[in-house]
Amino acid sequence: MLLLCIESSCDETAAAVVRDGRQILSSIVASQVDVHARYGGVVPELASRKHVEAISVVVEEALEKAGTDLDAIEGIAVTRGPGLVGALLVGLSAAKAIAFARDLPLVGLHHMEGHILAVNLEEEVPFPYLALAVSGGHTHLYRVEGIGRYRTLGRTLDDAAGEAFDKVAKLLGLSYPGGILIDRLAAEGDAGAVAFPRPLLHKDNLDFSFSGIKTSVLNWVRKQKEPVEGQLLRDVAASFQEAVVDVLSQKTLRAARQEGLERIVVAGGVACNSGLRTRLRSLGEKEGLAVHFPSPALCGDNAAMLGVGGDFYLSRGVRGDLKLNALSSWVLDEVVDESGAR
Ligand code: KG4
Ligand code: ZN
Repeated sequence: MLLLCIESSCDETAAAVVRDGRQILSSIVASQVDVHARYGGVVPELASRKHVEAISVVVEEALEKAGTDLDAIEGIAVTRGPGLVGALLVGLSAAKAIAFARDLPLVGLHHMEGHILAVNLEEEVPFPYLALAVSGGHTHLYRVEGIGRYRTLGRTLDDAAGEAFDKVAKLLGLSYPGGILIDRLAAEGDAGAVAFPRPLLHKDNLDFSFSGIKTSVLNWVRKQKEPVEGQLLRDVAASFQEAVVDVLSQKTLRAARQEGLERIVVAGGVACNSGLRTRLRSLGEKEGLAVHFPSPALCGDNAAMLGVGGDFYLSRGVRGDLKLNALSSWVLDEVVDESGAR
């Protein structure tokens, strides 16, 4: 099936054309970071407006780059939630309008389902596996039995990992989104310079908590007599990243052992983090676990990632109708497989 995929849950307007849930013919991502950077975070109202401005152009560009047009498209996959409701509605309305005008089947997908399945666009990862989904809004461990069959094993009790990166970056005077900036600084810093806490690391559960690390960084910054710049900035970035990576990787390994899973998929924007990639790869090698990361372009928000689930559901007859609404909060475990309604 040749699918048009549309994603607009946060601050990226994205469209892609994907064939048979495997082959990316085009993937266009129009980022709004410049608009939000001056406010230090995503401003929902601005995000909606920017999506409205960009959506038609992005869809047209995706079709053009794929060397195709709407006559050849056989179905539409769109992010239905979770995310900013005003932002989601823009992508959803565009998807419904095209589906109605062209009489095409439509399916609404969970944003994190998209992230988790993105890896399938690059390699075959047999089920079942453990997914660590780490983004600006999520830090979840899922047991994945197959497409549409997810069980939450653990989750953050407060901030998401990406949110912690962005908040710490902000308090260190870096711009938004700060995850990638911390990652770059950390590469040249001493990860052992400051001992930040590892919340919930030794608790016998699979949950996370990141707001305490953020507060520790804030307290540490306040205590400094010198401005936090140069090597000091690189050291604090490396020490913070080390604390987050320690917790994420140890809990992921614990979950894999507990569930008897031999495969791990890491997904979402924070899966771009080089410290996390290196650590989980080496721990996986040591423990005999296969660790899969999508390439960085497929870790951050994009529409191509919807092609995998979109093809799966649409080819099994799952349909969303024109009443399909945005779900700003939507638990992935509630996503049902091909036998159910969506
Ligand atoms: O999946 P994503 O693009 O959007 C959401 O669904 O939230 O994830 C965005 C998050 C942001 O918090 C961003 O700072 C973080 O991913 N991120 C990183 C890196 N690249 C992006 N965090 C740490 N290291 C990175 N290299
Ligand atoms: Zn995302």
